[in-house]
Amino acid sequence: MTDINSVTTLTREGDIAVVTLNSPPVNALSANVREGLTEAFNQAIASDAAAIVLICDGRTFIAGADISEFGKAMTGPMLPEVIETIENSTKPVVAAIHGTALGGGLEVALGCNYRVAVPSAKLGLPEVNLGLLPGAGGTQRLPRVVGVEKALEMITSGKPVGAKQAAEMGLVDEVVAEGQLREQAVAFARKVVAEGRPLKKVRENDEKLAPARGHPEAFEAFRKANARKFRGFLAPEYCIRAVEAAVNQPFEQGIQTERQLFMELMMSPQSAAQRYYFFAERAAAKIPDVPEDTATRPIKKVGVLGAGTMGGGIAMNFANAGIPVTIVEVKQEALDRGLGVIRKNYERTASRGGLTAEQVEQRMSLLTGSLDMNDFADVDLVIEAVFERMDIKKDVFGKLDAICKPGAILATNTSYLNVDDIAAMTSRPQDVLGLHFFSPANVMRLLEIVRGEKTSKDVIATAMKLGKQINKVAVLVGVAHGFVGNRMLARRQEQAQGLILEGAMPWDVDKVLYDFGMPMGPFAMGDLAGLDLGWVKEESRGETIRDVLCEMDRRGQKTGAGFYDYDENRNPRPSPVTEQIIRDFMAKKGVEPRQITDDEILDRNILPMINEGAKILEEGKAIRASDIDVVWVNGYGWPVYRGGPMFYADQLGLANVVAKLKEYEARYGAAFKPAALLEKLAAEGRRFADLDKAS
Ligand code: 3HC
Ligand code: NAI
Repeated sequence: MTDINSVTTLTREGDIAVVTLNSPPVNALSANVREGLTEAFNQAIASDAAAIVLICDGRTFIAGADISEFGKAMTGPMLPEVIETIENSTKPVVAAIHGTALGGGLEVALGCNYRVAVPSAKLGLPEVNLGLLPGAGGTQRLPRVVGVEKALEMITSGKPVGAKQAAEMGLVDEVVAEGQLREQAVAFARKVVAEGRPLKKVRENDEKLAPARGHPEAFEAFRKANARKFRGFLAPEYCIRAVEAAVNQPFEQGIQTERQLFMELMMSPQSAAQRYYFFAERAAAKIPDVPEDTATRPIKKVGVLGAGTMGGGIAMNFANAGIPVTIVEVKQEALDRGLGVIRKNYERTASRGGLTAEQVEQRMSLLTGSLDMNDFADVDLVIEAVFERMDIKKDVFGKLDAICKPGAILATNTSYLNVDDIAAMTSRPQDVLGLHFFSPANVMRLLEIVRGEKTSKDVIATAMKLGKQINKVAVLVGVAHGFVGNRMLARRQEQAQGLILEGAMPWDVDKVLYDFGMPMGPFAMGDLAGLDLGWVKEESRGETIRDVLCEMDRRGQKTGAGFYDYDENRNPRPSPVTEQIIRDFMAKKGVEPRQITDDEILDRNILPMINEGAKILEEGKAIRASDIDVVWVNGYGWPVYRGGPMFYADQLGLANVVAKLKEYEARYGAAFKPAALLEKLAAEGRRFADLDKAS
């Protein structure tokens, strides 16, 4: 055995040379790894070995370029050069893949002559998620192996494929038994040598490109079919152009085109935002005063109280993860309706091919309905999702405290109420916290975990772990009205409502936010959620536009009209009725409509949110600015290519943010008064990101 460097070894298995990488946690292609690979391959090629196997120790094959090196000066050999060294080998090279061969990792594997993988392995080019494209030959080599159509799909979606599917596509040459990768890869290499197979390089194989030549319309069709998905993003279009180059240019030139497009993306603010976001999401999992090795409580059985909009969706998350759930309701009718909605959801997924009929039944079988809270006696966690009323929540938590076993965690899904006041109704406030899911709870990935004053560390650690288990992005937040997300949203809503009483129409406001990259604006969102959410007919006095709309039974999409009019396919149209209501309202108040610019609409929606974010940080209700961004990307569809509101503020420059806020404060008053933290950072020439670095 030869130690090439600290992360690379070169060994022999008889006539086969084996290059092994061991660079935890994910064998990313840092300078050290690139150097090790180059040296190991040079030595192996020069040796008398008949073939070479490349394999990785630890949990995975190479998971890509080392993202933490991006944006800094690169040292050591560049990845394309490393791959060229491998591809120019005079002996067959076999990549042995387990875990995830992603990005640069798959590009290295494509530089090998053959790829073998265990069944659990996944292969993909996820660069697009970082606002990039595969920049080490992936856009040129993958279509040569799997064809243009599949390559386009993989590269622009960033989604990995499993080993079996990869084998069907020709990306994997042999799927080998789990746990026997090393032996099997060596055996495969021997077989290649014994059969005297010609030394074929991926770059030399143009066969699968031929059908796409002279058919630019296929690329156009792909662009059109995905236009909605790609809206606002730069990288998918660049990925398509790089694959077009693979088809239309010779390999060497295609590589040049890929490089140029890659470098452009690397310098773009979008990629900076998406790379920032990659680390932001991972940082959110770390709680400074809750060590990673904190012992967690086992959660084998869950209770959900209330089978309404949220309760049903919450229960589905656990059933999807194989955890049995007891759902308790007050009335049989509500229970039946709730379980019926869950079944319908699963069946819809099944009808689209997402689940088999058996899986639907299996998941439903994990859900047990009941009208008796005593059935929570044996659960490890209860999530309460009853009406948003403090009196009811307090009553319910008193009962849960009496019923649930010692050590069971009691959680509330409240949107706004004070978790400490709820916890105080129990004899175990240390076991109480908020688990704030977002609607629809089976779809939205955000989970705000609300830490009460007395919530114990192991309860937090358990909740964070559980969040991951049910495929959520969990963010720890403090007790505050609306926690992080809804608290900031409220500032935006105030301005949106204000704007339509000054002269902007709801669709004007929505368009600006949609064009900014949000999935929809505040008024379209209101129509979707239902304008009567929290509206009480008996108490309505026509004091707001919403009151008037609801009184006219324009309650949103579900009644065919709200702020917008809807056709039978729920396509929105600006509504002359709403416009008239707004005009009448303004006339009554003696307000003269004025022309409001798109810039003002954007500023007034976004700046108060940023300002509120600063207050949240000031008060310690979020651990990091980046946590706030994770909330907004996952809970509200903030475009990831803009990082999140706090990252966006950093990109604007905090001094500019403060200057603008002051300008608006002079015109519209205290809602725009800059937070002390924001003023301080701006004065010091610092960013929110600098706070995170310091923490
Ligand atoms: N570079 C640097 N660090 C990385 C990394 C990478 N490519 N991939 C993962 N890490 C780090 C994470 O930041 C995390 O660090 P931490 O423990 O300090 O927070 C640690 O590795 C473990 O990562 P996860 O928590 O994400 O572990 P999981 O087991 O949940 O997931 C994974 C593993 C699927 C590999 C996931 O980390 C992942 O998707 N990584 C990114 C893969 C990727 O995007 N590759 C393409 C890179 S760009 C590229 O290759 C350009 C090329 O074309 C030139
Ligand atoms: P919902 O009205 O759809 O459902 C509430 C359900 O609780 C009803 O089915 C009702 O019969 C049941 N219920 C009431 N009292 C009960 C009791 N004592 N025992 C058992 N069941 C009882 O309400 P929704 O929208 O599901 O909201 C539930 C909670 O989730 C609220 O606290 C809300 O603020 C919060 N939430 C709501 C979101 C949303 O978008 N709807 C988003 C995030 C949180």
